[in-house]
Amino acid sequence: MKKVYLRTFGCQMNEYDSERLLALLSGEYVPCQAPEEADLILINTCSVRRKAEEKVYSMAGRFKHLKARRPEIIIGICGCVAQQEGERLLKRFPHLDLVLGPQNIYRIREILEEIERTRRPQVRVEMESGFRPPVVVPSLDGKRPIKAQVTIMQGCDNFCSYCVVPYVRGREISRPPEDILREIECLVRQGVREVTLLGQNVNSYGKKEKGFPSFAELLRMVAEIPDLWRIRFTTSHPRDLSEDLMRAFAEVKKLCEHLHLPVQSGSNRILRRMNRGYTREEYLEKIRRLREICPEIALTTDIIVGFPGETEEDFAETLFLLEEVRYDEIFSFKYSDRPYARAREFPEKVPEEVKAERLSRVHTLQARITEEINRSYIGREVEVLVEGPSETRPELWTGRTRTNHVVNFSAPPGLDLKGALVYVFIKDTGKHSLRGEYRRTIQGP
Ligand code: 5AD
Ligand code: SF4
Repeated sequence: MKKVYLRTFGCQMNEYDSERLLALLSGEYVPCQAPEEADLILINTCSVRRKAEEKVYSMAGRFKHLKARRPEIIIGICGCVAQQEGERLLKRFPHLDLVLGPQNIYRIREILEEIERTRRPQVRVEMESGFRPPVVVPSLDGKRPIKAQVTIMQGCDNFCSYCVVPYVRGREISRPPEDILREIECLVRQGVREVTLLGQNVNSYGKKEKGFPSFAELLRMVAEIPDLWRIRFTTSHPRDLSEDLMRAFAEVKKLCEHLHLPVQSGSNRILRRMNRGYTREEYLEKIRRLREICPEIALTTDIIVGFPGETEEDFAETLFLLEEVRYDEIFSFKYSDRPYARAREFPEKVPEEVKAERLSRVHTLQARITEEINRSYIGREVEVLVEGPSETRPELWTGRTRTNHVVNFSAPPGLDLKGALVYVFIKDTGKHSLRGEYRRTIQGP
């Protein structure tokens, strides 16, 4: 059997695409861990921020000597950078054989055959407006994964002014509910107990398609699948977060109490320039309502610092918002210009050192808040879905709470807890995790 080395950069959507790539290649290729051993090297790329794109280029450059030594290997760039750059990648890296956009990964087998037959590089970046990813369920034999992700829609119609996604992933399109349910049922039969439904903006699921359920209705349909214990989803756009979806947090028992709701900035002036479609006040009102409906809900968010024109006052508004909401965790980024995105033309670019300084202030503030929230778990018993032994401390088990906090915990020797739903008593906190002791099993693996 031939060997494939696959590296994935970027978001969960890309991890999903990578799993599908491996599934499509199985039977002909087995994954390997070293590029030197591979017959096929694929880099699945992300272009959402400049840093991610640069990493891809430095990696692609490093494979040049492998091609020189073994010209028969096939080297390909897939994903968003492939879509964004197309033919230009072949000019920049003449040792590449393949440039494959996100919509085209499903044709990997036939394209590889064509490369082997013609020995000519192939660029496949066509985007069909009606494209829906087919059902491809990876064979999980022997791996006993507990969690899986399922794409429910792709693309984005929002055109936030900083963002490249609508240009490289195309327009929003939802997968038929029967495809989604079939895929999840297959995963559950293989032992999966938790699914995360993926989309750039899951709240607008089914809005453009005739006869599709709403996202809240889809959640209720997924919740009917027997032996599935937990459901999560990401990402939500604050503007489209409906009352119906908020209520699902209280009503759908399998839906975990965690919402990732990217706010990006706390300043109305900047939100307007970002084309986000909501004000700070509207966002805060949704959070208030959500907490009223589901008081235990954990919240996370994305923040961009140093958007063009962001003043010290605008930035202070972001810090105030972080204090006001008290997110469990945040993901924060320095603004970077992206191809096609409108904000690259905006004047008043914020200097790098100012961005760095603002990012570090965000980190300091959030570290304190996260620590305070983590400490509030001490002395409580929480439900944990056990993923397996901890990688760094194999004598401990690891898993997540319903609120998506990582828990490392001890248990009596001889118990195989992988895949079990258990109660853990929290005794302490680490920097990014909770520490505890096993109490009892709710449901066995
Ligand atoms: N610069 C910095 N951060 C960005 N993001 C998206 N585009 C940019 C950009 N040009 C961030 C947003 C988004 C997350 C996935 O990446 O915060 O929510
Ligand atoms: Fe980008 Fe905005 Fe769409 Fe998110 S909602 S993918 S930030 S355009």
